[in-house]
Amino acid sequence: MGELNLHDLNKYISDYGCNVFVETGTGTGTGLTYAIGANFKKVFSIEINTILYNNCRERFTQGNVKLINAKSVDGLKQACANIIPADTCLFWLDAHFPGADFGHGGYDDNIPHDDKYPLESEIRLILDARSNKRDVFIVDDLQIYEPDANYELKAKTEFLSKHKQKINFEELFSKTHDITRDYRHQGFIIMTPKSATEKTELSILIPSTPRRADSLCKNLIGYLTRMIESGGHANAVQLLWLGDNYTMSIGKKRNLLLSMAEGEYLAFIDDDDSVAETYFDDVLPIIRQQKPDVVTYKCVTMVDGGRKTISSYSKNYEYRETTDGNGVVQWTGKVAHTMVWRSEIAKRHKFPEKNWQEDMDWVKLANADIGTEIEIPKPLYFYRMYHKVSETR
Ligand SMILES: C[S@@+](CC[C@H](N)C(=O)[O-])C[C@H]1O[C@@H](n2cnc3c(N)ncnc32)[C@H](O)[C@@H]1O
Repeated sequence: MGELNLHDLNKYISDYGCNVFVETGTGTGTGLTYAIGANFKKVFSIEINTILYNNCRERFTQGNVKLINAKSVDGLKQACANIIPADTCLFWLDAHFPGADFGHGGYDDNIPHDDKYPLESEIRLILDARSNKRDVFIVDDLQIYEPDANYELKAKTEFLSKHKQKINFEELFSKTHDITRDYRHQGFIIMTPKSATEKTELSILIPSTPRRADSLCKNLIGYLTRMIESGGHANAVQLLWLGDNYTMSIGKKRNLLLSMAEGEYLAFIDDDDSVAETYFDDVLPIIRQQKPDVVTYKCVTMVDGGRKTISSYSKNYEYRETTDGNGVVQWTGKVAHTMVWRSEIAKRHKFPEKNWQEDMDWVKLANADIGTEIEIPKPLYFYRMYHKVSETR
């Protein structure tokens, strides 16, 4: 049985911004009492055993405490549906052996596996339900999952070999979280979001205008944020966008964004454009492993919803347009600012401070500095050119 009070909850609140506490396995409410004493805005606790739930329901009547009488996976579904993505949770996962710790059942009861050892299903459900990958997890009773370590309060070997469960915590968390094993008491495994101070690998730069702030730009940022969070890229990718009240030229905005970019690589995505759902999954492995000066990909342009152009980029290409039998224009040209650039090269050159064709001089100068380039031979960038909407061309 876990001892939540061995953990400084207010430190998790201040270090990671946790504002919601979620417990699986209420028991007699010892952990819950401790959690209520910390500064959470909302506290959820889930218990399968109805007698234990009813006892706690009479005692915990605070308005911000929600007790749920359910199997932990079902209760987590309910809790997660009531937590918004912007909230950050501290999950205290402590449910196993229904009722047994309190004499309402036995450790050897013949009950469904997932009711008796629900941890892996709980974790998978949470990771699926929560788009915010900044939650903290404290899992109790590590000795059930990793019985061989030197725990402070080690259970009998016979008990551990009977109830041992296999969970690959590294596979579940290592992309998004740091993992710490704590062998006090019966053992804990603690997952905290990877430090935001890790090196940014790719900065995405989005210049915008007031007219588009609430529509195109907002949609693009929402779309990219979802891709970054669901792909576990929150530490690798920095998203920067810049709008103004029409005091700056687009060239000036691009220069400011260039100076703000902290990533080893950067790419502009204009706010009326979009990228493929696989953009980060395709680009990040290349900049991590092969480290070229630029990564290029195809760009599909639709002009006024009609004419379609497929563009390919290389420092070695000259501007050329050919039309295939289906009326699709194949365009080749120098590497554009909308491809992925090593920042050190991209930052060597400034965009002219104008609103039209500001990219042309920059592209010419920057292409002359490219050494190595790698092409991803598929469309990753989508450019919709509507002359009515365009404010720059
Ligand atoms: C170790 S005790 C909880 C102690 C409590 N978390 C604390 O910190 O004081 C485990 C509790 O989990 C409950 N439990 C076991 N399996 C469960 C499941 N599948 N769903 C929900 N609760 C479960 C048990 O009935 C028991 O009350």
